[in-house]
Parts: sequence; C-alpha cells; structure tokens
Amino acid sequence: MALGSDSRHGMWSSRWLFVLAAAGSAVGLGNIWKFPYITGENGGGAFVLIYLVCVALVGIPIMMSEVMIGRQGRSSPIHTMRKLADKAKRSRKWTFIGWMGVLAGFIILSYYAVIAGWALKYIWITGSGSFQQATPELATSTFNDFLADPWQLIFFQTVFMAATIWIVGKGVSKGLETAIRWFMPLLFILLIVLLGYSINSGGFAQGWAFMFDLKFDQVTPETWLIALGQAFFTLSLGMGTMMAYGAYVPDNANIGSTVVTIALLDTVVAVSAGLAIFPIVFANGLEAGQGPGLMFVTLPLAFGQLPLGAVFGTVFFVLVSFAAITSAISLTEPALAYLVEEYNAKRKRVAISLGVMCWALGLGTVLSFNIWSEFYVVGDLNIFGFLDYLSQNVMLPLGGLLIAVFAVWALPAAVREKQLGLRPGVVSIFWKIVGGIVAPLGVLAVFVYTLLPVFQRLVEMGASMLAS
Ligand code: PHE
Repeated sequence: MALGSDSRHGMWSSRWLFVLAAAGSAVGLGNIWKFPYITGENGGGAFVLIYLVCVALVGIPIMMSEVMIGRQGRSSPIHTMRKLADKAKRSRKWTFIGWMGVLAGFIILSYYAVIAGWALKYIWITGSGSFQQATPELATSTFNDFLADPWQLIFFQTVFMAATIWIVGKGVSKGLETAIRWFMPLLFILLIVLLGYSINSGGFAQGWAFMFDLKFDQVTPETWLIALGQAFFTLSLGMGTMMAYGAYVPDNANIGSTVVTIALLDTVVAVSAGLAIFPIVFANGLEAGQGPGLMFVTLPLAFGQLPLGAVFGTVFFVLVSFAAITSAISLTEPALAYLVEEYNAKRKRVAISLGVMCWALGLGTVLSFNIWSEFYVVGDLNIFGFLDYLSQNVMLPLGGLLIAVFAVWALPAAVREKQLGLRPGVVSIFWKIVGGIVAPLGVLAVFVYTLLPVFQRLVEMGASMLAS
C-alpha cells in the first residue's frame, strides 16, 4: 500500500487494488463453506433466489454507503462515524455503528479461525492421498473423527490465528496484494475444474435443480433472515470492514461501479461453489442439509477420483485457507485501526492482544463440535450456533440498516453527491430510494417478522421459568 497523505494508515495505490482487497475480504469461507451448507439446510432453490435478491437490493446499496462513509471520514469506523456525525451536526450516538462492528468482527473471527483450521487440516489429508477412490462413508467418517477431537481442532485454529495475527501485526504488505492478485484467479480456476468434475458426476441435473428450482413451500420467515444475514456476511457488510477499507480509496475512484464489480465477483464464487458441491451430494447419496461439514465431506470425493486429485486437493485447500486469511485480516481492521488511532498503540501489540482474546472465545466454538455439542445457549443453538446467529443474523443486518440510514438521511446531500459522483437528478433519486428506503425497510421488515417471535418465545420461556 503506497502511503498517501489522506489516511494515516496508508492509501490503496489504485482503484484496482481496492477491488482486490475488498474482494479478498468478501471472498472467503462465506462463499465456499457457508453458502453451500446453508443453501442445503434451507432447501435450495427459493433460498438462492432470495439470497440473490438480498445481494442486489440490499447488499449493493449498503456497500456503496459503507465505502462512501469510509472515504469521507478517512479513519477507523468509530472515528469516522464520530467525525461525520459531528460535521453533519447529528448525535454522536451514531458511533454505535462503529462499536458494534468491532464487536461483530471479534465474534466472527473467533469462529472463523476454527473453520479455517479445518481447511488447513484438509490441505494435509487430501495431500496424503487418503481419499484415493474414497467412499462417501470414508469421507464422512474422516470428517466426523476429526471433529470429535478437540485437541486437533485447537491445534489448527491456533495455527490459523497465529498466521492472521502475524500478518495483521506487520501491516498490510505489498506481498499480500501480489498474493491476492495471483491466488484469487487460481481459486477460480480450481472451482471450474471441480465444476467440470461435478458436471460429469452423474448428479449434475439434480444438483442444478436443487439450487435453481423454486420451491417456495419451503420458505419460512426465517429463510429471509438467513438469506439476508448471508448476503451481509459474504459481502463483509454491516460491521465496518468496508468502511475501514473505504478509508483508503483514492478520491477519483467511482464507488458505484467498484462495488458492483466486487458483489458480482463474490456472487459468482459462491454460486460456483454450490454448483460444484451439490451434484457430488446427489451422485453419492449424501445429505444436502447436513450442515457445516458439507464441503469437507463432498469435495474430497471429487479429489479422490480426479487424476492428480491429491495435488488438486492440496492446492484447493491451500487456496481456501488463503481466501480465509484475507477475510480474517479484514475482520480485524476496524478494531485495529481504532486502537492504533486512539492510543497511538503499536499495531503488533494490539494485534497480539486482540488475537489471544479472540482465540480464547474460539475455544467455545471448538467444543460445540464435540464435548459441548449439546450445551445450548438459547433454544437449539449451541455456542457456535449462537455466535453465528447473533453476528450474522442480528449484528450485521442491524449495522447495515443504520449505515444506510446514516448515509442517505443524515449526511448532507452535498457530501453524498460528491462521494458517489451523482449530480442531482434521476440516478441520485434512484439511489436515494433503493439505498435509503428499500434496503433499510427490507432489513427492518425481515427483522420485525422473524426476530419478534424469537423475542416473544424468549420472554415466554423466561416467564415460565419464573413461574415454575
Ligand atoms: N466475507 C467474508 C467471507 O465470506 C467474511 C467476512 C464477514 C469478512 C464480515 C469481513 C467482514 O468469508
């Protein structure tokens, strides 16, 4: 990152580097691991459509808002919000967005490191050739045995966390940019190879139908919340990451087209991952709704049958781990930039302290896959389920809602128009309607519809506990 005069942390040397970094943040486990498994859990077709609608009508306008606020403030999200609220003569309560983002990033990273650890482990086992001509039973039991062993999970979680802290502590380096430039296209090529395998696996028609045949009878109000949360999660929205990265965007870059490019890239990767995985599920009689293990049970089957599969498998899981690390780095940026600004703290020291705390919280997630799998925080959510639900389905959408309202309704019109390069006119009105009305109201409606009953249930549970 070339140092500029505008943001004290540096500036992206071009619009293209911002696209790379933002895509590096967006493309991660959310696309390759999470999207397929929650699509499977939510019945496929209709879920995918709702998710795409959320990306287009909520994700894109909110990402524009976030990047634009970041570029206007040119500091960490907390300071940016304080600065812009003061300037626009609004309440400083708006900095809540920044604080909640820091917390959300912390929670997400705690479990993200555990799952990324699984990918690290799979570099090793696919490479050793243990999946040569493997049966679905072998792939399933290999994964389950791994999950049952907390020490192994902790080992790989620790390796991933240490690598993240190390990179973050050093500051975003040239090396990372170069790596994103090479690894992202490579990941994409490997996804296409996997897709090629899936097309010939005998389950492609079924996999395709599963993803794209609209089955609206399976849609519940909660489907909307999960799809919305996924749109936020996969695009790295609602917690200040894009705001923090937006702070380093040069003034002359066009935010609208940049954001659309990033969202498209991210969506293409997610949909390709789904299309690679579901045919394997059906060709092998596996369970589409089996949950978080989906990718780790299906893809090794493909690598076990492809020529040079062990090599492909290893390279694939290296790339997935790399995609995860560029996302993990971005999860820490809002907190890190704040602490460095506020206390003039050393990046390295802050990174280590935050990382250790986050690692400790991650132990809860590790144990939810074995010893504590039946320890429920609320309802049927164990520790991992709860942290995931809270961050993805509550904190990110709430953050996004507030960001959109702030960008469109609290910032002076002149700032908005300067940032987005919109002259007063049709496009500006369109942006105001989609970004300022459709997106926030959409989030609000989904919230009221799905979370209200959840709260009601909690209150009833509390009341009945008190009564007994
Ligand atoms: N978008 C990342 C992924 O899909 C996760 C992430 C969420 C990163 C929020 C930063 C902020 O894996």
